[in-house]
Amino acid sequence: MELTNSLKKKTNSEVPADPRGVGFEPELTSRLLDSILENSSEIIFATNEKGIIQSISKAGGEILGYNPQELVGKDARELAAEPDRLDQLFQRCLEQGKLRDLELTLRHKDGIEIPCRGSISILLNEQAKTRGFVAVCSDISRWQKFDEELVRLDRLAETGRLAAGIAHEINNPLAVILEIIGWSRDLLADLKDLDPEHREELETAIEHIHKQTERCRSITRRVLAFARKAPPEKKEIDLKELLEETVTFLQPEFKYEDIQINFDFPSDPIKIISDPKKLEQVFVNLITNAIHAVKDKGSSQGRIRIKAALQDSFVEVSIEDNGIGIPYDIKKKIFDLFFTTKPAGIGTGLGLSISQNILKNLGGDIRFESEPGKGTTFTVKLPLVLK
Ligand SMILES: Nc1ncnc2c1ncn2[C@@H]1O[C@H](COP(=O)(O)OP(=O)(O)OP(=O)(O)O)[C@@H](O)[C@H]1O
Ligand SMILES: [Mg+2]
Repeated sequence: MELTNSLKKKTNSEVPADPRGVGFEPELTSRLLDSILENSSEIIFATNEKGIIQSISKAGGEILGYNPQELVGKDARELAAEPDRLDQLFQRCLEQGKLRDLELTLRHKDGIEIPCRGSISILLNEQAKTRGFVAVCSDISRWQKFDEELVRLDRLAETGRLAAGIAHEINNPLAVILEIIGWSRDLLADLKDLDPEHREELETAIEHIHKQTERCRSITRRVLAFARKAPPEKKEIDLKELLEETVTFLQPEFKYEDIQINFDFPSDPIKIISDPKKLEQVFVNLITNAIHAVKDKGSSQGRIRIKAALQDSFVEVSIEDNGIGIPYDIKKKIFDLFFTTKPAGIGTGLGLSISQNILKNLGGDIRFESEPGKGTTFTVKLPLVLK
């Protein structure tokens, strides 16, 4: 106890008034600097008055894709996505002494832009003469992506609410139309002296109206199911059986095409506890998309491979196709509600947003990899037991 107190006293009296460590002898201050440059997770660099880098933190080198030694002697402006802007910042810093909270985009060795936020200050010598600049920058690319994702989710929720409202309003008129269709059919059957040609025309017209109305109803149902937060069912599912049934159900979509669907499953059955109807909806969406993608490529030998692999308490099901692939510029949009590249009548852009939503509610997720012109793999990750 006594020892601790005396130590405390001693330590307290030795704590320098200035938190920068100016109480240290020069050698220790230099080690302090080394330690900061070695351990900080920020991009910290110091330049001479011409902007030539004299030292840089280890993390700075790593984030920018260089060995720190490679950067010493390099013009800092070369690391900026817009060298002129960094030059202007140096000028402004000379006038104001310090610039805080500024945004600056740096460039990785591979050319990728790294958005940063930070500060620049001038470095003065003992005679108060400017000898250079010190910049401390944080890589904010992760935060920026997170921000974009929040905006996207917010927009998705808003579109979902709007669509659900419209779907709800349209549902009743659709039910009335379907009733009238049934009534028209009966009426037509009762009309005895109609000539066969007119009867056929009317029958075809009624069939068209029926088909299109059913299509509208299926869209409104899907939108309403998307917006509804019904708790999932929990049942034991044999994953391979479920996928085989899904493929059989989709057979009419591809039976006249040169498309082969293969399964690559471990020999032991994979049994999971989850919601079979919801999962079926996800797989119908993904396999239909794969069928469309190989059909759209137009060439023969369309291949779709459905693969499952266990990973700890999860199972990953991937659906791989050798179809048209997803162009780079739309990769970010494919999960958006109503985003589709398919002609009206074929796609509504609901499949992937509904699938993503379902999987989130089932404790899983979905990701994809795609190479335009070569094909796409969607991977669904599911817990073996839904909690
Ligand atoms: N396997 C795939 N290969 C190539 N593009 C795909 C694939 N899966 C999805 N896409 C792209 O993503 C878009 C959105 O897919 P999504 O399933 O959400 O809607 P959709 O298939 O267009 O319509 P819906 O599923 O509502 O009938 C598609 O229009 C297509 O451009
Ligand atoms: Mg789809």
